[in-house]
Amino acid sequence: MIRVTYVSREAPGLTSDKLLALVSQCHRNNPDKGLTGMLLHGNGTFLQVLEGDDHVVDTLIGAIAADPRHIDMKIVRREPVTRRQFADWSMGFERVTDESLKGVSGLHDFGLLNFTPEFLSGHDDVVETLLERHRAPPLGSTHSRARCARQADRRAASRNYANAQRQRDDCTDP
Ligand SMILES: Cc1cc2nc3c(=O)[nH]c(=O)nc-3n(C[C@H](O)[C@H](O)[C@H](O)COP(=O)(O)O)c2cc1C
Repeated sequence: MIRVTYVSREAPGLTSDKLLALVSQCHRNNPDKGLTGMLLHGNGTFLQVLEGDDHVVDTLIGAIAADPRHIDMKIVRREPVTRRQFADWSMGFERVTDESLKGVSGLHDFGLLNFTPEFLSGHDDVVETLLERHRAPPLGSTHSRARCARQADRRAASRNYANAQRQRDDCTDP
């Protein structure tokens, strides 16, 4: 199994409707292919992680590279893995906004204007921080706050992240 992370820039004319159609396409296709991952979009930029069997991921990455809905695709990481980090998601989706970034600790001076392929491809630590909160907790974790937060994250699949962040903040159990 491998995990591939890439960044790219949306093509001119990518409307919200086209973006939603793209997310639906991921949800339609990925379960049958055993693919999981996360797609972040904001400031005209995509950040996507895909995990699954090597040839399935590599084949899809080839198709995505040729997709006219985005340009300037750059793979930032391709790694063999033994365990999925986004097992809960056929393809999670987050709209990255200034508001959503406020809820992410550890980003320091990073703002929406930094959410670009150029910046992200040179800042592995920021990519990790942005993805971190969508990862499934380690196996065996039954921590109730973590469970509650994961449920809130699921609700965020096609919605504004700020809503999910508010719901996460309501997860007060120890
Ligand atoms: C940013 C971006 C992310 C994409 N992610 C996926 C994905 O996770 N799964 C997928 O099947 N297609 C994805 N696609 C679409 C593929 O490029 C391609 O259109 C699709 O796999 C074709 O399959 P279909 O015609 O059977 O739907 C993505 C495209 C873009 C531009």
